[in-house]
Amino acid sequence: MSASAPIIKIDSISKSFGSFKVLDGLSMQVMPGEKLALIGPSGSGKTTILRILMTLERIDGGHIQIDGEQLYHMERNGQLLPADERHLTRMRQKIGMVFQLFNLFPHKCVMDNVTLAPMLTKGTPRAAAEKRAMELLEMVGMADKAKNMPAQLSGGQKQRVAIARALALSPKIMLFDEVTSALDPELVEEVMNVMRKLAAETDMTMLLVTHEMGFAHDFADRVLFFDRGRIVEEGKPDEIFRNPKQERTQGFLKKIIAAGHRV
Ligand SMILES: Nc1ncnc2c1ncn2[C@@H]1O[C@H](COP(=O)(O)OP(=O)(O)OP(=O)(O)O)[C@@H](O)[C@H]1O
Ligand SMILES: [Mg+2]
Repeated sequence: MSASAPIIKIDSISKSFGSFKVLDGLSMQVMPGEKLALIGPSGSGKTTILRILMTLERIDGGHIQIDGEQLYHMERNGQLLPADERHLTRMRQKIGMVFQLFNLFPHKCVMDNVTLAPMLTKGTPRAAAEKRAMELLEMVGMADKAKNMPAQLSGGQKQRVAIARALALSPKIMLFDEVTSALDPELVEEVMNVMRKLAAETDMTMLLVTHEMGFAHDFADRVLFFDRGRIVEEGKPDEIFRNPKQERTQGFLKKIIAAGHRV
């Protein structure tokens, strides 16, 4: 695949929950290494898009290509067939996700939380998995807590371990959904710092959903503003946050500032 081909190509996808249409013909593309922030009002479909990319929700129509391959379809003799479980399992290895609520294994120590998936799903030998885990825990500032149990960690620390755990599988694409919104205010900054560093230092493709506009500004190369499942406006962080063109974007940012968030 050439360097200029998108790593994520979403083509006219639709998704309904019952009779409620969340996405209706959404198309978007993400280039390899891009750091993308998805912002927009509550209920605009941001989480749904990430969950669809993780195959936690299925699409009703349209196509998604990841890394040059169809996500929900398999190509057989020039025809597109619905993907089987084997295809989905293989495609899932390209994408990692960190959620709002820390979902660490409660009965495993920090080190085991990070090494378990590489050992089980990729057959990585324990020694190699632990070496890599220590590098990642170092990066998120949690190396000294490798033997701790999740219950002995603060929310911010748990979330940093969750980030290390997702990175341990070396996905090409990382998705972050409001990773700081369940944290006490004084713990938010430590997690954001880890994420800023990650964004600056890796060439991994990253999609970030956040209500923290200052954070989105620092993190992203490009910002997409969503409303009702559609991209209303997109551009560089400075363009979107300093000089939004669409009325709906302007209104959204005004509300956010009024609510006391930094932009
Ligand atoms: N499993 C589900 N069943 C029914 N409706 C759902 C489901 N998941 C999401 N929805 C609806 O789809 C819409 C989009 O939800 P989504 O979680 O993607 O929004 P969001 O942009 O992430 O919002 P927020 O900023 O509050 O997290 C909402 O109206 C929501 O109620
Ligand atoms: Mg959401």
